[in-house]
Amino acid sequence: MDLKLYGLRALVTGASRGLGFATAKKLAAEGVLLVINSRNEDHLHQAALKIEQETGVRPLTVAGDVSQKETAESVVQSAVTTLGGLDLLTTNAGGPPPAKFEDLDDTAWQNAFELCLMMHVRLIRAALPALRQSAAASVVTFTSYSAKQPIPNLVLSNTLRAGVLGLTKSLSQEYGRDGIRFNSVLPAWIETERVLSLMENRAQLNRSTIEQEIEKQAQQSVFGRMGTADELANAVVFLLSPLSSYITGVMLTVDGGMYKALY
Ligand SMILES: NC(=O)c1ccc[n+]([C@@H]2O[C@H](COP(=O)([O-])OP(=O)(O)OC[C@H]3O[C@@H](n4cnc5c(N)ncnc54)[C@H](OP(=O)(O)O)[C@@H]3O)[C@@H](O)[C@H]2O)c1
Repeated sequence: MDLKLYGLRALVTGASRGLGFATAKKLAAEGVLLVINSRNEDHLHQAALKIEQETGVRPLTVAGDVSQKETAESVVQSAVTTLGGLDLLTTNAGGPPPAKFEDLDDTAWQNAFELCLMMHVRLIRAALPALRQSAAASVVTFTSYSAKQPIPNLVLSNTLRAGVLGLTKSLSQEYGRDGIRFNSVLPAWIETERVLSLMENRAQLNRSTIEQEIEKQAQQSVFGRMGTADELANAVVFLLSPLSSYITGVMLTVDGGMYKALY
């Protein structure tokens, strides 16, 4: 199937590994002109090389912490300047740390607010002028199924991800007439470094092993396994593509059936 992505211009943040990397690689394979971002310049460079080896397309890189206001704006500006415009944006970064509510002070909440909510706000705000010029503008915000179903020991994520859904839905309404689509993906237990470190944390709390914790979580999926980053990326790439041109304001859970409620 032709996703009609060839030649479009994209910025993928949080893309040196995990879900962002898998998304960037699939976009590159579709012939998208890409800028990728993460904080660690070496890791980002390695990711760009790997994408080139696997797809023949070398993404450009802009390192920087997108939870910081000025950096988020300058990452977008660099991407727009380098690509000569912007059609596609995925807003993604790392997740907040696991913790019990009583162990979190105001600084921890403020940091999580910058990372989990303001990161999306600032990247999108900076990208809007370029997206308005695009005939195929599409934004996908990466959130979590924790926005629908709280995850134990992750109150920062459970609280702030819900705000991203409110933001994404609001923007889908506000900018539809500008031809810009906004959708969210809500991953659950897709095996990445982040998930392995959360499983390590559970293993310490429960005096078990990482393997046992992965197995317990995997059993919550109707398939009895965790997902792969490629499976999440397939959903993102579809939502970014012109093939989903009449889809906006959607919150797509990619969780192997872990979320059991109707809505
Ligand atoms: N995997 C899942 O099942 C799952 C489920 C629900 C929600 N999520 C959320 O989805 C997002 C991606 O998940 P993941 O599993 O791919 O995480 P991951 O394995 O930790 O990868 C995060 C990526 O983002 C980059 N990054 C982290 N903080 C950044 C920042 N402030 N600015 C720019 N780049 C940053 C990291 O590279 P650098 O270290 O070089 O910056 C890395 O490339 C996270 O927010 C996670 O909480 C994931």
